[in-house]
Amino acid sequence: MSNTLVVGTQWGDEGKGKVVDLLTADADLVVRFQGGNNAGHTLVVGGKQFIFHLIPSGILYEDKKCLIGNGVVVDPEVLLRELENLRKSGVVVTPERLSLSEKAHLIMPYHRALDLAREAAKGTRKIGTTGRGIGPCYEDKAARVGIRAVDLLEPDTLEEKISVNLEEKNFYLTRRLGADPLELGPMLEDYLSMAERLGPFITDVSMELYDAGRAGKRILFEGAQGTHLDLDHGTYPYVTSSNPVAGAACAGAGVGPGQIHHVLGIVKAYTTRVGGGPFATELTDEIGDRIQEKGREFGSTTGRRRRCGWLDLVVVRDSVRLNGLGSLAVTKLDVLTGLETLKLCVGYDVKGDRIAYRPTSLKKMEAAMPVYEEMPGWDREIAGARKMDDLPSEARRYLERIEEVTDVPVSIVSVGPGREETIVASNPFH
Ligand code: IMP
Repeated sequence: MSNTLVVGTQWGDEGKGKVVDLLTADADLVVRFQGGNNAGHTLVVGGKQFIFHLIPSGILYEDKKCLIGNGVVVDPEVLLRELENLRKSGVVVTPERLSLSEKAHLIMPYHRALDLAREAAKGTRKIGTTGRGIGPCYEDKAARVGIRAVDLLEPDTLEEKISVNLEEKNFYLTRRLGADPLELGPMLEDYLSMAERLGPFITDVSMELYDAGRAGKRILFEGAQGTHLDLDHGTYPYVTSSNPVAGAACAGAGVGPGQIHHVLGIVKAYTTRVGGGPFATELTDEIGDRIQEKGREFGSTTGRRRRCGWLDLVVVRDSVRLNGLGSLAVTKLDVLTGLETLKLCVGYDVKGDRIAYRPTSLKKMEAAMPVYEEMPGWDREIAGARKMDDLPSEARRYLERIEEVTDVPVSIVSVGPGREETIVASNPFH
């Protein structure tokens, strides 16, 4: 038995969805442990397109159990919409296939309203959030006024909590942010009706995982976002409001550290970021445009154009330390095909000081100049490569240099969007 945890090593959008889909074949259960519907990935299976924001894509395999852990913030409307879309595509999801933790916090309409109104008020210093209410929901969780999935099972508790919260939020929305107030009646009606539909899925996820582990089943922990968007370890305040680092899987799913046997870090072969915040290797020239176009770098949640740049190994090396990575999956290597010269950032120069880690001070981070190594690129298309030896020597050298600088082996390489367009040098589950 070997449970695997998948985390993003950059600023999200590393291509975790495809790797998770690939590894799901070897797992019995797939669990999400943080974030919410700020995440998103698209899968094409049997000619049909599926977009997932909350439900693990493992739901497309008939024999896998999918779980949404307590650390996830759940917008019930989005969850029901995803269930409905699956039903329309012929995938009927029963409580035997999907569990929602009773301890997961719910995103409420006032969380979305606060997210949008606050961002609008910030002007040029806005974070560039996804506007899904993620931050305000986690705030309520920490302030101990949040509404949890378990409350959906007790209509009187739900009603009382929504009324108390809404009074305070409306005051803040109207008086401080100049936004419109929200109405209690329709909100109560919506949540009571959604409670009926979601009720059967609400369980103790931690207990399910414990029992599954004891029965020798294999668990895949699916991280969302990326290490440098982590609330504690990321480019604060340009971060999300949860902890995407590996350690958070324990608190967010309700398991002990001994239940995680391998941490796989997903590294996109270049770097991207959506929203604001420092990005040392950002390319604002035609090479950046070319990577953006070839890599189809648009956010799958908001459709925003992603900022693109060279691979920043300072960022990845920090992620090795912060997550205890056992191996790396390098994705979208094919996007770099055709570039004459590639650059790898191996350090930063901050006003004359050479450093090998990402500084915490935002001012220093904004001043950090990348120290690059240059490597020759390759011309030959690589989508057909199925083993390392099929790659051009320059591509192999690029991967070797990643291994040398991070001191972590590359176990998987993705050379195209299709499930089969992958080199699996070693499977973390085996
Ligand atoms: P929030 O998570 O909506 O509060 O957004 C905070 C920051 O995290 C913004 O810069 C978002 O663009 C970014 N972000 C949130 N989720 C993702 C994701 O799944 N991929 C990439 N960036 C994300």
